[in-house]
Amino acid sequence: MAIEISPLSGSIGAEVTGIDLNKIGEAGFADIREALLDHGVICIRDQDLTPDQQVAFAKHWGEIHLHPYLKGLPDQPEIMEIVKEAGERNRFGDHWHTDQIFTPTPAMATMLYAKEVPLAGGDTLFASLTLAYEALSEGMKAMVGRLSTVNQYDKQATRSRRMSEKIPEQDVPAKVATHPLVRVHPETGKPALYLNAMQTTRHFAGMTPEESRPLIAYLLDHITRPEFTCRVRWRPGTLGMWDNRCLLHMALDDYPDHRRVMHRITIKGGPVVGLETTSEAAE
Ligand code: SIN
Repeated sequence: MAIEISPLSGSIGAEVTGIDLNKIGEAGFADIREALLDHGVICIRDQDLTPDQQVAFAKHWGEIHLHPYLKGLPDQPEIMEIVKEAGERNRFGDHWHTDQIFTPTPAMATMLYAKEVPLAGGDTLFASLTLAYEALSEGMKAMVGRLSTVNQYDKQATRSRRMSEKIPEQDVPAKVATHPLVRVHPETGKPALYLNAMQTTRHFAGMTPEESRPLIAYLLDHITRPEFTCRVRWRPGTLGMWDNRCLLHMALDDYPDHRRVMHRITIKGGPVVGLETTSEAAE
């Protein structure tokens, strides 16, 4: 069967069919890597993966991140099980964010393997930080290229039933990291507007939260314009993967009467590199 890659929208996202992740060789993996770089988020349909096989696929991408506060599966600590029961409010990932922006080396990519999903609802939304940057005026590009963001760990965003904690929530130390607002993608070289909603991107370096709020709010509205987004509709057996260096994502909490179970793995990333003008300005 030949691999088929079909766009999910006019901007980002692709559906990948005709591939078995348990049998891909180097050439198959190279095709998937190219699809991820081209489309930002891919959903690989009809996979039948044990936790061990999901971990084996994840290791193709780099080192797996072990969450400092949340426990993984008993036999597979690399996999975090995200479970939302019928009738429960989801507090995991239901705001626009890119993973681990509050650390010095935020996540390169994240993958979710759909185990149990509602017939309708529970989709994940994605927005392109690259397209959003490209669409700014030259004046705005010059201004954002000189700014850095201060990002702090948002304890509330990690709350979800059945994600047992390694340490109690009140003991979670605040994690803070400062990054250039415009980051250059280490593989494509494309600049991207790199920020989260204000729960995590608290303010610009050297400015107060009050001073920062209007521009952060404007940029988030701009990034999440429908023409820069796509939506992944899950089916059991879908392996979705996205590039955190150039996308925001958000879990939709629109399935109050259904259960949803996902197996999540995060791939470690490197330091965030800004535009040359950013580092010159900081010197
Ligand atoms: C996440 O933010 O990783 C969760 C996304 C989802 O459950 O759809």
